[in-house]
Amino acid sequence: MARIELTNVEKYFGSVQVLKDMNLVIEDGEFVVMLGQSGCGKTTTLRAIAGLETATSGTITIDGEEVQDKKAADRDIAFVFQSFSLYPHMTVYENIAFPLRAVRMGQSDREAAVREVAQVLGIERLLPKRPSALSGGDMQRVAIGRALVRRPKALLMDEPIGALDAKLREQMRAEIKRLHIARNSTSVYVTHDQVEAMSLADRIVIMHDGVLQQVGAPDEVYLHPANLFVAQFVGSPVMNVSDITVEGDGTDAVLRVGGGQGFHVPGQVVGHLGKGAVTLGIRPEAVLLSHQPGDGYVETETTNIEPLGSHDIVDVRVGDTTLRARCDAGFSKGEGEKLWVSLDPHRAHFFDAANGQSLRRAV
Ligand SMILES: Nc1ncnc2c1ncn2[C@@H]1O[C@H](COP(=O)(O)OP(=O)(O)O)[C@@H](O)[C@H]1O
Ligand SMILES: [Mg+2]
Repeated sequence: MARIELTNVEKYFGSVQVLKDMNLVIEDGEFVVMLGQSGCGKTTTLRAIAGLETATSGTITIDGEEVQDKKAADRDIAFVFQSFSLYPHMTVYENIAFPLRAVRMGQSDREAAVREVAQVLGIERLLPKRPSALSGGDMQRVAIGRALVRRPKALLMDEPIGALDAKLREQMRAEIKRLHIARNSTSVYVTHDQVEAMSLADRIVIMHDGVLQQVGAPDEVYLHPANLFVAQFVGSPVMNVSDITVEGDGTDAVLRVGGGQGFHVPGQVVGHLGKGAVTLGIRPEAVLLSHQPGDGYVETETTNIEPLGSHDIVDVRVGDTTLRARCDAGFSKGEGEKLWVSLDPHRAHFFDAANGQSLRRAV
């Protein structure tokens, strides 16, 4: 178990800066997921924590101790990579036991440790096999077993299930979570898949272009995104976004979306917005459709339907903006159907159009 702290960490490769002033505390026993697009610096951050890469500046501490000058092998941190890096000439048992041999653990302790981790992972029957006889999922279970067997202070996982098919990924996700709860190990997990991040994390760290965008619990980043990037990166389908103008006074206001119709909303919802240009963000579940006119609703028509089985995503047009709404399956009969649309003002997000920062109401 370990508490990991990054302070003002920067990393350059030549003249290219890939990590910019990273500050992050990972608490003992926490499961933190680093989420971001390919190339944003996730792997570099993990490698810097593990000691496989040296930060250009800043400090990294593990349990209060600075580790910049410590070799990877002396940091007591285990790493699981996306590619299954098992020794092909060894059995599964020997693969898992390998880190214990390296620290000269006695044979009976070694055997007990391997069997215990194999049992937790449900791979006991695989112990005599060679990696070439395993499926992708089993190979990654073995790689995780090998990482966990010496009870490292922390477990770092870099897209460990990214190469598996969708069904297996879902199953492995649940297993990794269960394993974390059973072992209570400090875990840092990297992925570009927001569903994986939401389902695994105690806290999510969202990165973009080497800059940490927001750190928070899954519901926090979903409900209160700090900026437009986070708002559109988390959630599927992505949050609707449109430039708006706000008209009206403190009691009744009108949001004019995409230069089109205006939605009447309570003044308090928008009272905190300044005079500058504002971007509205509204998730598909907060875009409300109706077959009849009603208070706060404006007329529109269906432009596209995505039937997803459990629900439909229905597109409607407002001004120059397409709003995507999450509806019951079969809600709209087809393209061109006349509908009425409203926005749930209490689930509307507002962002500074110039810099994308969230414009939150003071609480
Ligand atoms: N050893 C390296 N030398 C030069 N550039 C690198 C090296 N490793 C990574 N990079 C660059 O650093 C950036 C961040 O990479 P990486 O941390 O692997 O991102 P991610 O894991 O989020 O996809 C990318 O632009 C990548 O090309
Ligand atoms: Mg990577």
